[in-house]
Amino acid sequence: MIVRNFMPQDFEQVLTIEMEAFTEHNPFVYMNFYEMNDEGFLVATTGNKVIGFVMGYRSETNEGRIFSLAVKKEWQNRGVGKKLLNSILDLFKDEGIRSATLEVRSSNDKAIQMYRKMDFIACWIEHDYYSDGESGIIMKKQLSPRS
Ligand SMILES: CC(C)(COP(=O)(O)OP(=O)(O)OC[C@H]1O[C@@H](n2cnc3c(N)ncnc32)[C@H](O)[C@@H]1OP(=O)(O)O)[C@@H](O)C(=O)NCCC(=O)NCCS
Repeated sequence: MIVRNFMPQDFEQVLTIEMEAFTEHNPFVYMNFYEMNDEGFLVATTGNKVIGFVMGYRSETNEGRIFSLAVKKEWQNRGVGKKLLNSILDLFKDEGIRSATLEVRSSNDKAIQMYRKMDFIACWIEHDYYSDGESGIIMKKQLSPRS
């Protein structure tokens, strides 16, 4: 498995993963994101198959925001999510960004577990964050420069 930059021909496979991973969909967001911020759109692939993606951008001078992360169902629990997350964090570090932030559904135990393991700390809860009324947990991680 390798992690590389997203290319427009990956779009359909990324959307397939997005459709099975999330309940709220907005395909245009993905293409817009790529147009605005192609560097922060990474995919995990094996052969010519896309098996996961992550998107992140500089949200403030010293802060990077992880906007979306998902792994194809049959490829989950094999370290792909962790590799994607580490790749975007490395990119943030290379850009001199000092902290990373993200939001996660309060019921998404698996993702929360993964973020905790990777030293993200739950900072606060945004009530009614999602359109179905679920709360979002805002998590942050301090980044030290890559050695
Ligand atoms: C969350 C998600 C990205 C994780 O990707 P993954 O490739 O399955 O995760 P990994 O195999 O890299 O595992 C990373 C960590 O997740 C946790 N984890 C994995 N499977 C788990 C499970 N079944 N239950 C609880 N924690 C689990 C572990 O902490 C694991 O670390 P470890 O292997 O050192 O124990 C993936 O499940 C996914 O796409 N989910 C749907 C979309 C989503 O929820 N995205 C996040 C939105 S904020």
